[in-house]
Amino acid sequence: MAPLIQTASSVLRYRGGAGQWAWAIHRAAGLGVLAFLLLHIVDIFLATFGPGVFDELLFIYKAWPFRILEVALLFGLLYHALNGLRIILADFIPMLASRSIARKLFYIQITITGVLFAVGGIWMLVFAKEEPFGNNPVLATLVVVGIIALPLGVALLSSLAPASATLGLDRDTSTGNYQDSVEAIVRGRQRRPMNRQELNIWLFMRVSGFLLIFLALFHFFLMHFIYGVDAIDFRFIIFRWMDPVAGFFWRAYDLALLVFSLTHGMFGVRYVIEDYVHNRALQVFLLGGAVLTEIALIIMGAFVIFTFNAV
Ligand code: HEM
Ligand code: HEM
Repeated sequence: MAPLIQTASSVLRYRGGAGQWAWAIHRAAGLGVLAFLLLHIVDIFLATFGPGVFDELLFIYKAWPFRILEVALLFGLLYHALNGLRIILADFIPMLASRSIARKLFYIQITITGVLFAVGGIWMLVFAKEEPFGNNPVLATLVVVGIIALPLGVALLSSLAPASATLGLDRDTSTGNYQDSVEAIVRGRQRRPMNRQELNIWLFMRVSGFLLIFLALFHFFLMHFIYGVDAIDFRFIIFRWMDPVAGFFWRAYDLALLVFSLTHGMFGVRYVIEDYVHNRALQVFLLGGAVLTEIALIIMGAFVIFTFNAV
C-alpha cells in the first residue's frame, strides 16, 4: 500500500510533463479496461444458464450509471489503443522515438482520441433509449466533457502542488521502474527487454496490442454503434453465434478477443505488480493470483463460446 500511495503522490507532484501523463493515463486506462473485461466475461458466461438468467441480469448494461461507465470505457479503450499504437510505432521506427517527435505524436494522438471520443460518447448517450440521456444532447455533452475534464483537471491541479522532492531523477528508485517508464515513454519506448524471456513478453505486448486495435475496438464499435446496447439480449447471442454462415466466424473472433485481451491485460498487470510490490513472496502470491484468474476466465469464456446451443 505504501509504495502505491508514494507513487500516486510522486505522479501528482513530479514535473514529468506530457510524457508523465501519457504514461500514467495509459496505465490507468489499461487497468480500467481489464477490470471491465473481468466482469464482462462473467456476464457473457451467464448465457450458459439460458435466457432467464441472462436477460434478467443484463438490465445492468442498460441502467444509466452503467451508461456513463460505458462512455468512460470508450475513453479508456480509445486512449490506451492510440497511445499504445504510438508506443509501438516509436519502438519499431527509430526516427519516431526522438523526444521532439514523440511529443508531437502524443499531441496528435490525444487530439484524435478527443475528437473520436467526443463524437462517439455523445452518440452513445443521445441514442440510448433510457432516460435521462436519451435524446438529451446537453446532458450527453456534459457527461463527455466531464470525462475528458477528469485527467486534464488532475494534471492541471498537480502542476499547482509543490514539486516532488522525493523523485529526483537519479535518486529515488523506491517506485520500481516508474522513473525509467517516465523517461522512456518520452522517447516513445516504455521498457527495454533485459533477457530473452522479457524480450518475448515485450514483443507479445506489442503484437497483441496491435491485434487488439482491430479486435477490441471493432467489437466495441459493433456493439454500440451498429447494433446498440438496447438490442443486446439472449436472442442477440443466438443471432450472432448460431448464424449458419457467420456464426463460426463470430465465435472464432470472440475466442481470439478473449485470449489476446486477457493475456495482454495480465502481462500488463505483471508490469504493474513488479513496479509497486518489492516483497518477493507477495509478488509471487499476486502474480500467481493473476495467472489463476486468467486461466479460470479463459476456461469460462471458451466454455460458453464452444458449448452455446440454444436449440
Ligand atoms: C460496453 C461495451 C461492450 C458490449 C455491449 C459488449 C457486448 C458483448 C456481447 C453481446 C458479447 C456476446 C458475444 C457476441 O455477440 O459477440 C460479447 C462477448 C465478448 N466481449 Fe464484449 N462488449 C463490450 C465491450 C468489450 C470490450 C471492451 C472487450 C475487450 C476488452 C470485450 C471482450 C469480449 C469478449 C472476450 C467476449 C467473448 C466472451 C466469452 O467468451 O465469454 N467486450 N461482448
Ligand atoms: C486496443 C489495443 C491495445 C493496444 C495498442 C495496447 C498497447 C499496449 C502497449 C504498447 C503497452 C505497453 C507494454 C510495455 O510496457 O511494454 C500496453 C500495456 C498494457 N495494456 Fe494494452 N493495449 C491494447 C489493449 C489493451 C486491453 C484490451 C487491455 C485490458 C484488457 C490492456 C491492458 C494493458 C495493461 C494493464 C498494460 C500495462 C500498463 C503499464 O505497464 O503501465 N491493453 N498496452
